[in-house]
Amino acid sequence: MARKTINDIMDLKKSGVLISMVTAYDYYSAKIVDRAGVDIILVGDSLGMVIQGKEDTLSVSLDDMVYHTSMVKHGSKKSLIIADLPFMSYQINVEEAVRNAGLLIKKAGATAVKLEGGKNILPQVKGIVNAGIPVMGHLGLTPQSIHQLGGYRVQAKDKKAGLQLLDDALQLQEAGVFSIVLETVPLELSKIVCEELEIPVIGIGAGPHCDGQVLVFHDLLGFDQDFNPKFVRKYTNLNQIISEALENFVNDVKDNKFPADKESYHLEQEVFEKIKGELKGKKGNE
Ligand code: KIV
Repeated sequence: MARKTINDIMDLKKSGVLISMVTAYDYYSAKIVDRAGVDIILVGDSLGMVIQGKEDTLSVSLDDMVYHTSMVKHGSKKSLIIADLPFMSYQINVEEAVRNAGLLIKKAGATAVKLEGGKNILPQVKGIVNAGIPVMGHLGLTPQSIHQLGGYRVQAKDKKAGLQLLDDALQLQEAGVFSIVLETVPLELSKIVCEELEIPVIGIGAGPHCDGQVLVFHDLLGFDQDFNPKFVRKYTNLNQIISEALENFVNDVKDNKFPADKESYHLEQEVFEKIKGELKGKKGNE
């Protein structure tokens, strides 16, 4: 099967099929996500937090994004790959936005780019789309504006902010984005946005009425025991599974139970005898 296109993704909304999107940041995670049949792999700038261990996404560079996106490209065959434009790679002006989006396509192999914001970034969105690069929007809780938002909390809770978000979404659609991520907003609002928009709206912490859902790889697989936001469902507890496996390895090494005979290589008996004989001869001459 060929790699999915943005048309395949837009058709899913038209035919009422929900869209799955998961982040991945390297070869093996991409391979697993792709094989599981996930529609879209997002190389998110969340890598700043889950790969680099930073407090937020702000320090992620374009080089980081190119590096991780190209690994994801090598690991995947079918999922559509979207790469985040990191903080300050598109905000300054349209020219920089188009050049940097182009690098994620040319150097890293992404099919589309995602950028955060509404009316404030319409010129950039139009410039990138005009260059022939598909764009995904991102509204609601936009982590690159974390200092302006004052924290990771539910967005657009009142009438004014709700209507503004809807207007941003409609304007992004008009500017040519093929899809929008809606993050951490009340489910009633995301339902309205999904109903008003023709393009797919993919939610994270935005309730069940969206056209699809996205989660961060490490969150849905339970890497971090201490990160338990309301919107995450942990489908397994990899932290525990990996920790147990590593502890078992340490114990087996200490108890000389690893490697076993079947995990080791053997010399041919004849070669072994010759080496032993040689050694014996040497010792006899000493
Ligand atoms: O960077 C990211 O992983 C994202 C998702 C949370 C939507 O933007």
